[in-house]
Amino acid sequence: MFILDSNKRQPLNVKLYNQIKDQIVTGKLPPHSRLPSVRDLAGELAISRNTVEYAYEQLCTEGFIYSKARSGYFIAALDQEFIIRSSQTRVNSLRHMFAEEKQYTFDFHPASLLPDSFPTAIWRKLFADCLRDNAGALTRYSEQQGERELRGEIQRYLERSRGVICEQDQIVICSGLHDSLAIVAQILRAEHSQLAVEEPGYWIPRSVFQNHSFSITPVPVNVNGLDVEYLQTTSSTVVYVTPSHQFPLGYVMPVESRLRLIQWAETVNGVIIEDDYDSELRYHGKPIPALQGLHPAADIIYAGTFSKVLSPALRISYLVLPYPLLARYHGLFGGFPGTVSLLEQKILARFIKDGYWERHLRKLRTIYKKKHDLLLGAIERHFGSRASIIGQGAGLHVVLELSAHDIEEKELILRAQAKDIRVFPFADTCLVDAGRNSRIMLGFGGMSPDKIEQGVKLLYQCCYEA
Ligand SMILES: Cc1ncc(COP(=O)(O)O)c(C=O)c1O
Repeated sequence: MFILDSNKRQPLNVKLYNQIKDQIVTGKLPPHSRLPSVRDLAGELAISRNTVEYAYEQLCTEGFIYSKARSGYFIAALDQEFIIRSSQTRVNSLRHMFAEEKQYTFDFHPASLLPDSFPTAIWRKLFADCLRDNAGALTRYSEQQGERELRGEIQRYLERSRGVICEQDQIVICSGLHDSLAIVAQILRAEHSQLAVEEPGYWIPRSVFQNHSFSITPVPVNVNGLDVEYLQTTSSTVVYVTPSHQFPLGYVMPVESRLRLIQWAETVNGVIIEDDYDSELRYHGKPIPALQGLHPAADIIYAGTFSKVLSPALRISYLVLPYPLLARYHGLFGGFPGTVSLLEQKILARFIKDGYWERHLRKLRTIYKKKHDLLLGAIERHFGSRASIIGQGAGLHVVLELSAHDIEEKELILRAQAKDIRVFPFADTCLVDAGRNSRIMLGFGGMSPDKIEQGVKLLYQCCYEA
């Protein structure tokens, strides 16, 4: 029985989704029990079938329910004991990515944003406002963990949009993921020495933790994200994951694997580092909530950034530290001034508070969705059955898996460069030798729509006609 709370200002599909999810995580809906049909539930609640379908599909994507052909939707078998407990708590190749390089006509780089997408006019206005209103503050250092008003805005945003449950005093403002992770590595070093990472995965965490004397254990990724069973066979006690949009393959870790991951952390007294870098950019359904929100009291460090939607040039990221680790953070860094420009923090806080952030997010999501769809269409047209796409539907890149491919990646990159195309080497995402890999990462964030079609056509020629 579901009741849609009329006091909450949320769309009906979100209310329904939350209701069902709550009943699953509190064990009220037993595993494998059947949900009412879309038609019955729509009739019972006097809402449209689309609304019910939307909620069911979102729950399916996140692994809370599953569907059986011609039988309907059923509750997934999750770890009930854990669920009930958790529901009661609220509480080396980096140069490719960042070096100043030649400009390409067709730049499929995965970390590029649309060149003119930065909200310059608004930022200029807020800059002037903040300068006027905070003139006195500019003669002091920023607070150690970052400016209070920015942490407050981030806390509210995370709770509202990402399902992260935290207090603002758990938030630390940092200058990008490597800075965030360097802090984490120093906090964890006294008790941990091994970091498990996704394979393939983002290379920054590997490098940062290696710099802090950690050994690195690659853990394979499957369609459910990081392979938790494999992780359990390793002796790592810290894991870095991108559960809501695995980098680079784009998989979403379903709730059952998320719960098993949390359970693993509890069993080994371990720590999960959740990198939630671009989950705002999901083009179908609503964004996948963060892992942290499933068990806010667990040792989950949440890492977020403003690089993917607003600007990587600002260098503003943040951490949410669980309380026991926060104490250690203060022990190590107490008395250090904040590292991010105070003025920039004030502007960003105002940008979020005045509603510009949400508006910007909506606008960019629409723009990027169009480009994402254009890219998929162009790949379909030019590659046809000679390639399949992995990781579509979110973020700023997809992975192209070539079905017949007999040139080395390096050779392919050179051929692409000769046609003024930049593609990013997939091998850089692999710690273990990627061998003769047949995958190409294609970023579309920085590409103008007209370049996408032409770039894909030329890329096809590099792969198959050169
Ligand atoms: C997996 C992943 N995490 C985080 C980031 C953002 O890092 P930063 O905050 O340093 O810009 C990126 C950027 O490309 C990324 O690919």
